[in-house]
Amino acid sequence: MSLPKVYVGLPIQEAGLEILRGRVDYRIWEREGAPDREELLRELKDVEGLLSGLPIRVDEELLNAASRLKVVSNYAVGYDNIDVAAATKRGICVTNTPDVLTPATADLTFALILASARRIIEANAFLRSGEWKVWAPELLVGREVAGSTLGIIGFGKIGQAVAKRARGFDMNILYFDTARREPEHSSGAKYASLDELLKNSDFVTLHCLLNEQTKNIIGEKELRLMKNTAILINAARGPLVDPSALYRACSEKWIWGAGLDVFVKEPVSPDDPLLTLPNVTTVPHIGSASRVARDGMARRSATNLTAVLGGHRPQDLVNPEVWQA
Ligand code: GLV
Ligand code: GLV
Repeated sequence: MSLPKVYVGLPIQEAGLEILRGRVDYRIWEREGAPDREELLRELKDVEGLLSGLPIRVDEELLNAASRLKVVSNYAVGYDNIDVAAATKRGICVTNTPDVLTPATADLTFALILASARRIIEANAFLRSGEWKVWAPELLVGREVAGSTLGIIGFGKIGQAVAKRARGFDMNILYFDTARREPEHSSGAKYASLDELLKNSDFVTLHCLLNEQTKNIIGEKELRLMKNTAILINAARGPLVDPSALYRACSEKWIWGAGLDVFVKEPVSPDDPLLTLPNVTTVPHIGSASRVARDGMARRSATNLTAVLGGHRPQDLVNPEVWQA
């Protein structure tokens, strides 16, 4: 019996390839980035499985080109690169990689909170450029993290992992989430409306999925509700924040600053106005970039893919309706 054909659209770790070997007949894109569209569509003509990732847009056009497809296994927890409704309509399973990247992403969020509050990037540049002449009481003074209030928008696994870390910093924790509203969570986080959260937080961090409801959840109105001493952190998805409103908020000091791992368009252009601001700390979408998390994502995405092709329900099915049907 021949093995099901699969296309692996990004150079995933050996930990995942080990799982694919002997179970599927795969071809892999081994370079950085993604194959160009034409090449990708050609590769997908006769495959039953696609291992996709953020640089690959899975839309109607792609699904039409891949008429034998049974599963799109995304190497990410977010899946806004995939038109899930279009996949569901065709009976195609969509899977993601939760859990394995939760600690790494929560850690990176905290790194952005600390780096933004204590001006770490700016301080490093100051020192290396030879500007450091003397220890001075007002040199590079930032915000205090300990004892401050953290507002978490989107209280799923990553949001809760951030709350757990915040407790160690004696932070007061507020959360807003459309799906849950227990007044108080085991981490000590208290439910707040979005407006209340924005008004009362010293740090606001985003951990929701990107969809039509959450796009631009932070725009001018929301930024104006925040304290002028507050810091916005985004390690979720760029389009959750209106970038031109954020630029004005940071340059005109409606808020104190921002820490960003993600951008509306990635890679963000080096000419993006946000990158000119000293009070905006930026890193290139590395939330899940720890060795443990990335190996875990490779294993989890490979396991989800081989499960579907072996006739089993995958652990991380985003569109369970497909399985029932
Ligand atoms: C990365 O951003 C992910 O969604 O896993
Ligand atoms: C801000 O979040 C941006 O996307 O540039």
